[in-house]
Amino acid sequence: MILKGPICDFVSGYIKENPVRMHMPGHKGRFFMGCEERDITEVSGGDCLYQAEGIIAESEARATEIFGFGRTLYSTEGSSHCIRAMIALALSLYKKRNHGAGLQKPVIFAARNVHRAFLSACALLDVQIRWLIPEEAVSSLCSMSLAPESLRRALAAEKQKPFGVYVTSPDYLGHCQDIAALGEICKAFDVPLLVDNAHGAYLKFLQPSRHPVDLGASMSCDSAHKTLPVLTGGAYLQISSHFSSLITRQQAKNALALFGSTSPSYLVLQSLDLCNAYLKEDYPKRLSLFCEKIQALKNGLAQLGYDIYQSDPLRVVISGKKRGYRGEQLGELLRKKGVECEFCDVDALVLMLTCENRPEELELIREILGGVAEKEPLPSFSFSFKQPVQKISVREALFSETERIPVEAAVGRICGAPVISCPPAIPIALCGEMITEEMLPLFGAYDVDVIDVLTEN
Ligand SMILES: Cc1ncc(COP(=O)(O)O)c(C=O)c1O
Repeated sequence: MILKGPICDFVSGYIKENPVRMHMPGHKGRFFMGCEERDITEVSGGDCLYQAEGIIAESEARATEIFGFGRTLYSTEGSSHCIRAMIALALSLYKKRNHGAGLQKPVIFAARNVHRAFLSACALLDVQIRWLIPEEAVSSLCSMSLAPESLRRALAAEKQKPFGVYVTSPDYLGHCQDIAALGEICKAFDVPLLVDNAHGAYLKFLQPSRHPVDLGASMSCDSAHKTLPVLTGGAYLQISSHFSSLITRQQAKNALALFGSTSPSYLVLQSLDLCNAYLKEDYPKRLSLFCEKIQALKNGLAQLGYDIYQSDPLRVVISGKKRGYRGEQLGELLRKKGVECEFCDVDALVLMLTCENRPEELELIREILGGVAEKEPLPSFSFSFKQPVQKISVREALFSETERIPVEAAVGRICGAPVISCPPAIPIALCGEMITEEMLPLFGAYDVDVIDVLTEN
């Protein structure tokens, strides 16, 4: 395959020149796994990710043109990295604008189903979180809708203006928030809307675009590696035109540098570079045709008696409860037939697809699930979230001494580290919160038996 793009071309030229590699990495381009030849460091002409002026800047400019927002910047460390940078940027803008000398900790509003990277960002930047809890019961930890009206009420009621509103969309189960409506509200209150779009880089290429930045978000993190043909770690920090008029490119780069390694992977950078060429070819057309095939699969599964969640188009989220199966059981059945799913829990089975899946693979899913014997329907599982009792700040809790104890013994204690199951890495209890009786069934449902709580003196 001919690699296309400034970073790829540079590396190809470097390989051809074949200099003696008196630089990192230690494999010296020799064959161990097969990819070492292309794995270089910041050699002369190779540019630096966080002070990009050469091939990386050129490649990012191409990505910016393809996405059509204010700026598209690369990360080789995933959306986790971009989330931290996004929050740091919103915070520094807030401080710069008017509130730098405030005594109270800055506050961010967030829908509860956050990825754990959001928590580490809040702990590191020492900000307070105000949770936007869904009013109705939910059936999964992964998916929670934020009603635009409840955001409006929360913003109107808060004395201290938040420096951002943070939502996950699409979430792990493919639920998409009403970004356009949330964006309008944020605009009216002059608060940036920050979207964890880790699962939705491809949404830009639907017709019309469903990308959160097109719908009104100020910034988003997109894991290119989740839905585009990019190596693990490849991600974009997307900045809207409006927001990028408020911060410089170097400020955004500095925010990424604050949390990033000084050795970004050149393999991942080449993969992002190559992806530009992929997106520029006939990707939107291929995507649209493939989404039709996925929709046909969803319709077929629904006819077989499975409940199919409303999700973003590249994802199939199945509940087998009506046919008598938990999500985990369906996952196991697929595994036995050679199919590995993305995620399964008490209820849902999640399949993540891209245009790189073959039509026969979709047919295989239909065949396997069609052949599953029906059993007695299972009861559905739902729970309500209450506003948690935050005893101490996320930061204070995260840096405190903790001990690990069984969950049943933890009621009344303060959570020390976010309690997550991975995937989906969404916390049930968060650092600084009191563990309550109501959390116990959730721990059970997500197979969490032990928990880190603050030690008591
Ligand atoms: C909703 C969500 N946000 C953020 C992340 C982190 O993304 P990354 O793996 O690219 O760091 C994930 C990872 O699965 C995720 O599911």
